[in-house]
Amino acid sequence: MAHSKERFADKMELPPETEQPNVYPLSWHSRTKKLQEVWEASQREIWDPEQLPWDTLDVDSYSWEEREAIAYWWTLLSVFDASAPPVFAEALIKTYEVHEEDPVRKCFFSVTRDEQGHEIMCGLSITKLLGHPDPLTYEPKTDLGRRLQKNAKWLYFNGGRYWTGYKQAVPKYDLAVLFSSFLMGEIAAATIFKQMYENSREPVFKEAFKNIGRDEGRHMAICMAVMERDYPGLKDENKSIVTKQIRAGYLFLSAVLFEPPMEFWDLPADFIDNQREAEEVARGAGFGIPTYEAKKENWRQAILNLKGVLDRYDIPFPAIPEVGISGQEISDVDMEDIIPVF
Ligand SMILES: [Fe+2]
Ligand SMILES: [Fe+2]
Repeated sequence: MAHSKERFADKMELPPETEQPNVYPLSWHSRTKKLQEVWEASQREIWDPEQLPWDTLDVDSYSWEEREAIAYWWTLLSVFDASAPPVFAEALIKTYEVHEEDPVRKCFFSVTRDEQGHEIMCGLSITKLLGHPDPLTYEPKTDLGRRLQKNAKWLYFNGGRYWTGYKQAVPKYDLAVLFSSFLMGEIAAATIFKQMYENSREPVFKEAFKNIGRDEGRHMAICMAVMERDYPGLKDENKSIVTKQIRAGYLFLSAVLFEPPMEFWDLPADFIDNQREAEEVARGAGFGIPTYEAKKENWRQAILNLKGVLDRYDIPFPAIPEVGISGQEISDVDMEDIIPVF
């Protein structure tokens, strides 16, 4: 590597080649038309959580138990969405380092921006419902609220463990591999937010779910377009990493889209009961969290969709017996292995 002091300009007509990978593409190739279309849609569909009709939300019309139960769901979501902006920002940097075509860089920028919006939405909802901006230091008002705060602390502990692994994974894997785990989250997210939109009664939450669901649908389209571009040439060693990532993505994302598998999530024995109780209270207050059966069916459909995509490229699918899908057994998944996002 040349020293910064070494001068070249007086020795040669043209400068030396710039070492690669270098975060500095000086080119704007555009090959994948679909990605340009998604970028344009993202520009048209920008929304601002702070501009939603917050004045229509009367938190005093809810009991404290209901407020804590609904805030708990937003907290659960933010365990995933509050890490999404840095997760995608890291992936955005990678698209520059590998000199991805211009629409890929733009699409990753749009996902980063969208995810920040989702994170802001979580924060606004929690702050209004609890009258406090931090669900971990908030002082619970009810017995359920106290048990939910314990749940939230355990979720936060678990979610916080994967960032180091993710940072190490990003330079190691091709974008094509990273996309497989992104897609897993986006497919399921697009569906669950649509259900929450249909089943929620509070206008400000309804509006948010409509917007978030539309964002996630675009994220899914981005993943699909990049996979269609890259998967036909995927090497066998990458195929087996994809298979493992899908299983890891299932385990990780189940916590928000279904229920957290205890083989992977390190959670206390009363966790699920507390969460189910909160979901029942929230549903009773008109907050449309899908039931256990509806979540299971949603998750199953999302996984079957993904299986349909991977089958086209002869990528073995992992067994997911939890929702009745057979396939290749994957056993040794731990927090270090995962690169999924939401
Ligand atoms: Fe999101
Ligand atoms: Fe997303």
